[in-house]
Amino acid sequence: MQTDVRPAEMARINTPELANAFIEEQIKELRKQIGDSKVLLALSGGVDSSVVAALLIKAVGKQLTCVHVNHGLLRKGEPEQVIKVFGKELGANLIYVDATDRFLDKLAGVADPEQKRKIIGKEFIDVFVEEAEKLEGIRFLGQGTIYPDILESLAGIKAHHNVGGLPERLNFELVEPVKLLYKDEVRVVGKALGLPDSMVYRQPFPGPGLGVRCTGAITRDRLEALREADAIVREEIEKLPERPWQYFCVVPDFKTTGIRDGKRTFDWPCIVRAIQTVDVVEVSAVHLPYEVIDRIVSRVTSEVPHISRVLVDFTPKPPATVEYE
Ligand code: XMP
Repeated sequence: MQTDVRPAEMARINTPELANAFIEEQIKELRKQIGDSKVLLALSGGVDSSVVAALLIKAVGKQLTCVHVNHGLLRKGEPEQVIKVFGKELGANLIYVDATDRFLDKLAGVADPEQKRKIIGKEFIDVFVEEAEKLEGIRFLGQGTIYPDILESLAGIKAHHNVGGLPERLNFELVEPVKLLYKDEVRVVGKALGLPDSMVYRQPFPGPGLGVRCTGAITRDRLEALREADAIVREEIEKLPERPWQYFCVVPDFKTTGIRDGKRTFDWPCIVRAIQTVDVVEVSAVHLPYEVIDRIVSRVTSEVPHISRVLVDFTPKPPATVEYE
C-alpha cells in the first residue's frame, strides 16, 4: 500500500526507462488494489487525469469507466480529442456527457466571478454524480492527484483531491496512481504510455475553463468568439520554437467601435496574454515577437466574427493575476 510521502530514495522519473519501470510497477499495484472491482474516473483531458486513465486502461481495461463532462467551456477540439484518444484509440469505456446547455443556462446573467466558479464547480459534481449513480457495482474512484497537491494539502493550502468534493459525495475508495509524482514526471510517464504530445505537454487550463476568460455574464455568442480566437492565438504561438508557460486570450464583456466593409461596427476586443513563470506565484509577461502578434491581429479580426480589435496584456503578476477572473 502506498503512503502519501515520497520516499527519499525514489529516483526522479526523467527517462523512458524509468517511466516504463514505474508503469510496470503501477500496473501490478493497481491490479492488486482493484482486483475484479470497477473503477470510475472523471477524465478532463488534462495531463494528470489522462495519464491515470491510460494507466488504469493498461491495468484493468474494461473495469474502468471514464466520464468526460463537456461543460461547454472547453477549448476548441478538446472533447473531440478525448473521444478520439480514449474512446477510439485506447478502447476505453467512455461516457461522454455534453452538458453545455445545462451549464450555460445556469450561468446565464451571472456576472460575479466567484458565483460563476461556484456554479461551474457544483454543476460539474452534480453531472458526474448523476452519471455515477446510473452505473452499478463501482467501488473505486480514480483521481489524478499529483505530489504538489499532497504537499499543498499537508501545508494546509488546499484539500488534495483535485476534483473538489467528489470523493465525499460518492463514498468510493480512491485510486491515485500518480500521487507521488511531480508534474514533469507525469509528463514523462504520459509520453511512455503513448499519449499524444498535445495532451502530454498541454499548458495549464483552469477547471472553470473559458468561463473565467469570457468575463462577466457569459453569452453564447461571445463564448464562441472566444473559443475561435483562442484556437488561433494558440496555433500562432505554438509555431514559436519555445512556447511560453501559458498563453491564451480573453474576450471581455465590452464593445468598441470598429469598421468592416466600409460600415461602422460595434464589436468585442480580444486580449492576448502569454506568460512565463516557475511557480505561478510570480509571473512575467512574455513579449511575443511582432510578427506573431501581427499574424494574430490579422487572423483573429478577419476569421472571428464580432471581434474587431486585438490588445496585448504585458502585465506581470503581481499586480495582475494570470486569469481575468
Ligand atoms: P491566477 O489567475 O490565480 O492563476 O494567477 C494561476 C494559475 O492557476 C490557474 N487557475 C486555475 N486552475 N482552477 C484551476 O484548475 C481554477 O479555478 C483556476 N484559476 C486559475 C491559472 O490558469 C494559472 O495557471
